Amino acid sequence: MVAKKKKRMPYKAKASQKKTERTTLEEIIRVDHAGEYGATRIYDGQIAIFGKNSKIGKTIQHMADQEQEHIDKFNELILEHRVRPTALLPIWNLAGFALGASTALLGEKAAMACTVAVEKVIGEHYQEQLDLLEDDHKDLKKTISKFRDDELEHHDIGIEHDAENAPGYKIMSKVIELGCKTAIAISKKV
Ligand SMILES: [Fe+2]
Ligand SMILES: [Fe+2]
Repeated sequence: MVAKKKKRMPYKAKASQKKTERTTLEEIIRVDHAGEYGATRIYDGQIAIFGKNSKIGKTIQHMADQEQEHIDKFNELILEHRVRPTALLPIWNLAGFALGASTALLGEKAAMACTVAVEKVIGEHYQEQLDLLEDDHKDLKKTISKFRDDELEHHDIGIEHDAENAPGYKIMSKVIELGCKTAIAISKKV
């Protein structure tokens, strides 16, 4: 096997800018569009329970406003790059809202625990995408790195609001993290 690789070397020797695979680009935009849509629905669900004008509602609204910016941007990118959105948007619509509302019904700490779990996964996921994208998509990299910082801010807001003291924090985090990872894996392809 090693010998075969050696033979091909001269053809690849020319230095050129690396290009992101089209499939990779499509998967990144499709899954981020789905994720940001889901995020707006999670916070919608939480605000529906707490109300916009409660103290916690205002904190959540700040994060929801940023999620709205994120989804607006991915709505643009999906058109600009002609990427098919995930077929599962109607499901993420309902699942996101249900996750937000059900955690909010468990209380403020549980709602924040949901934020911590979701944003941890999304923050890491954005970081992985930054490592996958080549410099032929510098603007997209900039966008993703800004959004990653926003998500990590949301994560920290959750921690500051005592998420870790929510009843059943550990198990709830694991379940939500696993759910998010599964949703990510599916939304890349479907
Ligand atoms: Fe976001
Ligand atoms: Fe977020």
